[in-house]
Parts: sequence; structure tokens; C-alpha cells
Amino acid sequence: MSLIRKAVFPVGGLGTRFLPATKAIPKEMLPVVDKPLMQYAVEEAYAAGIREMIFVTGRNKRAIEDHFDTAYELESELEAAGKSALLALVNAIKPDDMDCFYVRQPRALGLGHAVLCAEKLVGDEPFAVLLADDLMVGLEAHGGPSVLAQMVGAYIESPGSILAVQDVPRADTRRYGVVDVHGVNQPLAEVFAMVEKPDPLSAPSTLAVAGRYILSPAVFKSIRQQPRGAGGEIQLTDGIAAMLGNEKVYAMRYKGRRYDCGSKEGFLQATIDLALANTELASAVRSHIQALGL
Ligand code: UTP
Repeated sequence: MSLIRKAVFPVGGLGTRFLPATKAIPKEMLPVVDKPLMQYAVEEAYAAGIREMIFVTGRNKRAIEDHFDTAYELESELEAAGKSALLALVNAIKPDDMDCFYVRQPRALGLGHAVLCAEKLVGDEPFAVLLADDLMVGLEAHGGPSVLAQMVGAYIESPGSILAVQDVPRADTRRYGVVDVHGVNQPLAEVFAMVEKPDPLSAPSTLAVAGRYILSPAVFKSIRQQPRGAGGEIQLTDGIAAMLGNEKVYAMRYKGRRYDCGSKEGFLQATIDLALANTELASAVRSHIQALGL
């Protein structure tokens, strides 16, 4: 069993960048090729040995609960029709040894607030946080670890909070939490400063936090003590920053690729790349792109 047993999925955001698609369905249910973003994130956590999935949901998020629940009518129809491959596909969404828990975030007050809503379900143990709108492709295609599995591996060597980071262009720091570290080129470097959405001119570095975290339970107390931060929201970054000095926090350069599927551009990039990586679709998609003659 993994040392990290629980994963928190904050899915209480409004997804305004994807309106009108997200008026009635959660952005985490938008499919990349044939699978909702939510399922990619849950599979990543499962591949890292995690079996307790905690969803912090909001209004309009019922489709997520339904997706990880039994669908009797569909399953019996598939069974009666002898469509065993499809039935296996549907059954595999929630393996028997995986448990799902749901808690509501009553108002979208920010990512830090969403994580705080999971406190009672997490209890006093380290846990993972995955933002499903960041679709992470690790080394799975080559039989290697997913991004979160790489982080769990790092946690075993260096227990503490671990943030997945990547280099971004300086002009983009405004879109991320940005860290300052000792040993900027190390794969795992200790964080000594962290700031949410800094101006490119004042950003302490260009190492940006992607949507994967392993956090110490001390973060709950720390978040509770924060006033509202950037954008009037209760920021997870501020809660983590306030732990620095008392707790070890590391930044990990993961091996893999992140797609920001909360943005249209990132979502389309993910769709194209994953379609090209799909054995059934690759040749048709490649022909289509070539025919465009761009
Ligand atoms: P985003 O900044 O992408 O916000 O949140 P959003 O509201 O979902 O999307 P836009 O900007 O309006 O298009 C980052 C992550 O934090 C979660 C979101 O669901 C997303 O996974 N979140 C954000 C919450 O769970 N609760 C919040 O109050 C805010």
C-alpha cells in the first residue's frame, strides 16, 4: 500500500473559461478523446497506489458522482447485448478496491478553501491533491510512472510536502503559483518562498506549480489562518507558503507533460496529442492534419 492513501480532487470551480460548455456540466467531465478529464486524474492517483478518492464538489457537479457510481441500466443492457468489452470498460471506471467520498464546497471561495473542505475526510495524514483540469501525461506510455507516482516515489525518499513544478516563460508567471528554491536545477529542491500569480517583473523564479501536490496535514491549520489572497480567494499557495520554515516543502520537476485543460488552447493540444497517441485514431488524425497542409 502507498504511504499516501488519500487523494483530494477540488472540483468546485465554476469553469468560466469554458462557457457555454460548462453551464450545466462540470469542466472536469469534458472528454479528451473518449475519457473525461476527471477519470484521467483518478486513474493517475490509482496508479500511484491511492485507493481513497475525495471529491470536493459544488453545484452542477452531480455528473462526477454518477460517473464513478454503478449504472445498472447501462450495465444490464450491455450484458444482455453481449458487449463484454464495453461492459469491462464501464466497470473499470471504479475498481472494487477504490472508495469515493464526496463533500460539498458551498461557495467557490478558492482552491485553499476547497482543500479545507476535505479536512475531516483526510484527517491527520499526508495526502495528495490533483487538479483534474491539469491533464498530466507522465511516463506511462513507456511503462514508467505517472506524475503522481513519481511524486509518491520522491516522498518515500524525502518525506514532506511536494509540489510538482515546471519551467514556464517569465511572461506567464501571472497564471501560476511560483516558487523560489535552493538548488534550482535539482530534480527535488527545497522551497523557501512561494507566491500566487506574481507579476513577471517581481516573480521570484520561473518555476511554476502544476496541479499536483502531496501535502502535510499541517496545511489545513495554515490555510485557516490565511486572509483572502489574489483575486479575493482563499489561496492554497498562501497556506503552503505560511508553512515554509516550519515544515519541509519540496518542488519536484516531474518527467512528463502538462496540458492546461482549463484553457481552450491546452484542451485542444491535449486532444490532438492524445488522439495521435491512440492506436485506433492516430492514422486518421495524422491524415486529416496532413490534408490541412498547414
Ligand atoms: P481555476 O482557477 O481553474 O478556476 O481553479 P475555475 O473556476 O475552475 O475555472 P475558470 O477560471 O472560471 O475557468 C483551479 C482548480 O481549483 C478548483 C477548480 O475546480 C480547479 O480544479 N477550485 C477553484 C475549487 O475547487 N474551488 C474553488 O473555489 C476554486
